[in-house]
Amino acid sequence: MRHLTAADIKNFERIYRLNLINGLPGFKPANLIGTAAPDGATNLAVFSSVLHLGSDPALLGLVTRPTTVPRHTYQNLKSSGCYTLNHVPVALTAQAHYTSADFPDAVSEFDECGFTAEYRDDFPAPYVAESPLSIGMRWLEEHAISNGTVLIVGTVEHVYLREEGLREDGTLDLVALGDSCITGLDGYHEVLPPVRYGYARPGQKPVAQ
Ligand SMILES: Cc1cc2nc3c(=O)[nH]c(=O)nc-3n(C[C@H](O)[C@H](O)[C@H](O)COP(=O)(O)O)c2cc1C
Repeated sequence: MRHLTAADIKNFERIYRLNLINGLPGFKPANLIGTAAPDGATNLAVFSSVLHLGSDPALLGLVTRPTTVPRHTYQNLKSSGCYTLNHVPVALTAQAHYTSADFPDAVSEFDECGFTAEYRDDFPAPYVAESPLSIGMRWLEEHAISNGTVLIVGTVEHVYLREEGLREDGTLDLVALGDSCITGLDGYHEVLPPVRYGYARPGQKPVAQ
């Protein structure tokens, strides 16, 4: 087995290190973040850092890169207080990946990358019409991380999903929705159906349901 130490990691060439460390969390969710500027200009960017922070209240986090250069997603979600998370289906990963390109301010990634901006129920941030599961989020708080990145915490205000994605017990069937997931900074995967074990209890060996 290969053993890499902190000293090895520090000495790696920059891109090699970036590739390696970005892969360490394992498979990550694929979301497009939809926002709008005060003048109405829309913005869309693929993010892999969305995480669950609590169910009651329903909170989700995301991590933005250092705001030392203009970050449209961050600027827009701060000015409007709202943003949308939109799951990326396997069929649309190329377009989703394209949103990470450094487009000028005036260009909307919705138009440039082939997505449709859809406004629903008077929410100020645009949803991705092509996404099978979209979430309307409101900024709640943020936490500066020592490396310059920012953890944004938001409350879930709206969830829209295709019927086939919601099971009777409230769990989501992300495979039925056609969702993809991400590895590193450029790998997109189709996912197999899960083996589900239910709630784990001491003394009860989990059995596939
Ligand atoms: C697979 C993938 C995952 C990404 N995840 C994140 C992320 O979690 N946070 C982030 O700040 N940028 C992430 N990015 C980079 C943004 O997509 C990219 O910086 C985008 O241009 C940001 O656009 P904005 O300036 O309009 O906000 C990711 C890029 C790729 C390709």
